[in-house]
Amino acid sequence: MGQRVYCNSNMWPLFSEDKTSVVEYVVERNPSEFVFVEREKKTPLYVIALASDGKDKIEDRASLLVDISNELLEQNSQRRAKLAVELHELNQKAEQLDVKVQTQQHQMEALRQSHLSIGWVSKFTARNRYLPTPPMDMIRHVGSVDGDNFREVGMNVVGDLIQFGLLTNPNATIADIGCGPGRIAMFIAPALSNNGSYHGFDTWSEGIGWATENITSHYPNFVFKTLSDSQKDPGDRADFLTGYRADFFRSIDLDDNSCDLVLAISLFTHLRYKAARSFMKEIYRIMKRDARAYLTFFIYDEESHHSIPHPHRDLQSDEYGFYYVEGSYADSYFKERTILDIFGEFDFRLHTKKFGFWRGDKYREDRWPGGYQDLFIIGKD
Ligand SMILES: C[S@@+](CC[C@H](N)C(=O)[O-])C[C@H]1O[C@@H](n2cnc3c(N)ncnc32)[C@H](O)[C@@H]1O
Repeated sequence: MGQRVYCNSNMWPLFSEDKTSVVEYVVERNPSEFVFVEREKKTPLYVIALASDGKDKIEDRASLLVDISNELLEQNSQRRAKLAVELHELNQKAEQLDVKVQTQQHQMEALRQSHLSIGWVSKFTARNRYLPTPPMDMIRHVGSVDGDNFREVGMNVVGDLIQFGLLTNPNATIADIGCGPGRIAMFIAPALSNNGSYHGFDTWSEGIGWATENITSHYPNFVFKTLSDSQKDPGDRADFLTGYRADFFRSIDLDDNSCDLVLAISLFTHLRYKAARSFMKEIYRIMKRDARAYLTFFIYDEESHHSIPHPHRDLQSDEYGFYYVEGSYADSYFKERTILDIFGEFDFRLHTKKFGFWRGDKYREDRWPGGYQDLFIIGKD
């Protein structure tokens, strides 16, 4: 067995004498004294076995082999030194990671605070009765429950646009498809200069009429247009279809490559595949290079299908998704693959995907208060 050899410290004789018989004691040093301990406590550093064909006879009694090279010990020391360096580096890395974790915690706190502050602003906005607010049937048309809720939701969504840096250009040209009576437009209005413009489109002529009367009158660069079967004013035509139309598509009255930002907030949640795909193609056409589109959906998957309201309702389905249909109205839950395939088909680039808190509380921290639906921000790069 190899052992360290220290001058005067060995317990085994290193010289040979005929009558040397070895008695081995193992001692351990306590804080106050040496004590005998059982031999098993002796830990070998290494073990060497020798075979020899030399003429010297190895006698059949206790013999000691002492390795004086210390090479293995040196290797061991070198390994220990290397490990010490590695440990030092790991400690440094751990410190850097600590700093990173702390920074991220600060960022998350800042994000939470900013969500809180948008929530705060929206609460004040909700109570601001000076803001134009449509009558109850119009409020219900866009899924709000009362005037306060109408103003609050509008502000929350616009807060989300601000957080994604989408409202930084006061001279932007913005298109909003499925704009309703301008719940979003009225909060975007102060963000644009007279050189910017907003173009709202909806199949619902009453909502377009209200928005024109109440928003365009104050912001002439905010215009609203009805998407209808007839390019003429619907007038009193009894067959004129207005409101939710899941299978209806009409091209957008804007030039190719003319928009910096396109919004479709809860539009694709009410369209079936063919119309959805056509609007997506149209969005690509009107977007400038480097423009962004902010589109919201209810994406159907394992997690979200539990959140579909009234699960007893019969959902229609096709290869693209699931639909609750009532006349020309639909609630649409597309599969994510469907949406990504359309993006791919029209050469959009996906910039941001965020699941909304309609699918569960775990998304609230990230998406509260303006991210109820699933969001895709895409670019024409
Ligand atoms: C839930 S509302 C959202 C309105 C608005 N984006 C907002 O967030 O306040 C959906 C809107 O899409 C409109 N819409 C439904 N079918 C449409 C279609 N085929 N083309 C354009 N708009 C449509 C509806 O009339 C309605 O105003």
